[in-house]
Amino acid sequence: MSNIEAIRDKYLQQIGSAVDGDALEAIRLAALGKKGEISLLLKTLGQMTPEERQEQGPKINGTRQNVADALAARKEAMETAALDAKLATEKLDLTLPAPATPKGSIHPVSQVMDELAEIFADLGFSVATGPEIEDDWHNFTALNIPETHPARAMHDTFYFPQTDEGGMPKLLRTHTSPVQIRTMMDVAKQTDGAGEPIYLIAPGRTYRSDSDATHTPMFHQVEGLVIDKGIHMGHLKWTLETFIRAFFERDDIELRLRPSYFPFTEPSAEVDVGFSVEKGRRIIGGDPHGGVDGVGGGWMEILGSGMVHPNVIRNCGLDPDVWQGFAFGCGIDRLAMLKYGMDDLRAFFDGDLRWADHYGFDALDVPTLSGGVGA
Ligand code: DAH
Repeated sequence: MSNIEAIRDKYLQQIGSAVDGDALEAIRLAALGKKGEISLLLKTLGQMTPEERQEQGPKINGTRQNVADALAARKEAMETAALDAKLATEKLDLTLPAPATPKGSIHPVSQVMDELAEIFADLGFSVATGPEIEDDWHNFTALNIPETHPARAMHDTFYFPQTDEGGMPKLLRTHTSPVQIRTMMDVAKQTDGAGEPIYLIAPGRTYRSDSDATHTPMFHQVEGLVIDKGIHMGHLKWTLETFIRAFFERDDIELRLRPSYFPFTEPSAEVDVGFSVEKGRRIIGGDPHGGVDGVGGGWMEILGSGMVHPNVIRNCGLDPDVWQGFAFGCGIDRLAMLKYGMDDLRAFFDGDLRWADHYGFDALDVPTLSGGVGA
């Protein structure tokens, strides 16, 4: 075997047993690099006689080509093997369940507020808001609740520390009724006391010092207010019936109005909703006079209402001989509990994500009442 063949076989053998790209590169440098063994051999061609060159030239060049080809082939084989190994380990199993993507949900209270806004929008009501930090005038006095009135004691109110000498301390509103006052006063101001019709609901946060399974210090109410000419209790009853039937999505819900007392309405009525009992559970709607199969059935209180007291209309700068109206106030949390079957109010505000996940609503798939109330 000639010298050149031995060199070729040596490199081919090394290439065959190279384990990685670095080893291949080292071989390439040793053989074909500037000072590589084969490169140096090529340089010797210049000093040969023409006969020698004719004989050696093709051999050395052939060897250079053999080694270069072997390097390229080995490199490609290594790359293919690496890709195969990668594909084998990174195999994507499309039958595996996708990992859960954490996502938020709509809180039942927000959901119910949206439903209320939709129902009342269909009846021509707009949504009004007011501050949660209120003053004595809007929360009590203008609502015909005088300083000595027992109704003030009825509300176990969160007062702020007294700020100015002799003034009344601010408070966290105990109900949404002050929004009635703010809206009527705005209307009186904007119309120079002439007044104009008002149809509003005011959902929002309210506060009382109370805490048990059905009371939390912060809770939600929705206020309703209608001011117009010739408004009477028939309008109140129809509006409440339409609202309750749309909200609970049943046409067979009966309402019962019981005489009651609120300082800001006269006459006042507490409103009960009829329930029946199906499979041992109370269901809003059905026959409240004995229930399905003659078992159960009855009434549960759902809201307070009445005809707006003339003093309240007058306190806001409007003429009660021209403008009449009705109002109502209702607990939103209780509406949510009744409609969606939750029994502990405190869980509403604990911030437990498991609860929110279970009772919350998908932001992209919320049940909607936008089909209208058929009014
Ligand atoms: N503000 C009352 C409360 O918090 C609820 C209420 C009753 C509001 C009768 C009204 C109403 O507007 O007419 O207990």
